[in-house]
Amino acid sequence: MHWQQHLDIATEAALAAGAILRHYQVRHFQIQEKRPGDLVTDADRQAEAEILTILQRHFPQDGILTEESGIQGSRSSDVLWVIDPLDGTTNFAHRFPCFAVSIGLLVEGEPTVGVIYNPMTNELFRGLRGQGSTCNRDPIQVSATASLQQSLLVTGFAYDRRQVKDNNYAEFVHFTHITQGVRRTGSAAIDLAYVACGRFDAYWERGLSPWDLAAGVVIVQEAGGLVTAYDGEKLDLFSGRILASNGWIHPLMTQELRRVSPLTWAMPS
Ligand code: IPD
Ligand code: CA
Ligand code: CA
Repeated sequence: MHWQQHLDIATEAALAAGAILRHYQVRHFQIQEKRPGDLVTDADRQAEAEILTILQRHFPQDGILTEESGIQGSRSSDVLWVIDPLDGTTNFAHRFPCFAVSIGLLVEGEPTVGVIYNPMTNELFRGLRGQGSTCNRDPIQVSATASLQQSLLVTGFAYDRRQVKDNNYAEFVHFTHITQGVRRTGSAAIDLAYVACGRFDAYWERGLSPWDLAAGVVIVQEAGGLVTAYDGEKLDLFSGRILASNGWIHPLMTQELRRVSPLTWAMPS
């Protein structure tokens, strides 16, 4: 089966949801806290409703997993949409213009279609298994950087970072020391899209959800990159951990991730 129609409809849904996010960015919106630090706004909910309407109109038989509504249909469905209507809600809430719509399609568990749309820069990243990745229709490729010393990396910190010791602070310090720098954009989808187009050489993070990753994984892979667990083994999208890179520095990243141990200083509560 070809998945071009799924890519086309996902694109339509991402653009429509992006227009809703852009609309709210310059207007008043309500913000609620789902758990400490984890925000949801009117824009998240409306963008998600729009995506669901479009996808269900065209593909009523497909399973759908979204951040705000959970599962519709069966999670074990062979064809499962995995969606974050607004990845980067904290940025959005502060009107920091770095966030995206992320729509992925898993076919028998394999990321097959990915669409990430940043409505503020109007950049549309797309990937289709076997067909390559694009940004606004131009083909994209991962970088060719082969050393950590010459790399620019990106990561993030999950909402449970104050409760767990394994909160990625140690890894952040370690990689900051041995690379050209480590950025934190606040949107996992944008992090993956930027690895795919070579702006970042690698991305790692823990504490993620499948909707943060589903679209970006196939976009990175189809741009020539590598996506695995921290140890280089096969990625489990539901494990919360990911290492995505240009491929060249992947073994170096796994080696360094293995070496880091949690910071020993006591965190102020
Ligand atoms: C968050 C972003 C952020 C990552 C968090 C995610 P949200 O998603 O992707 O970059 O560090 O772990 O939860 O809450 O803005 O959709
Ligand atoms: Ca997210
Ligand atoms: Ca979200």
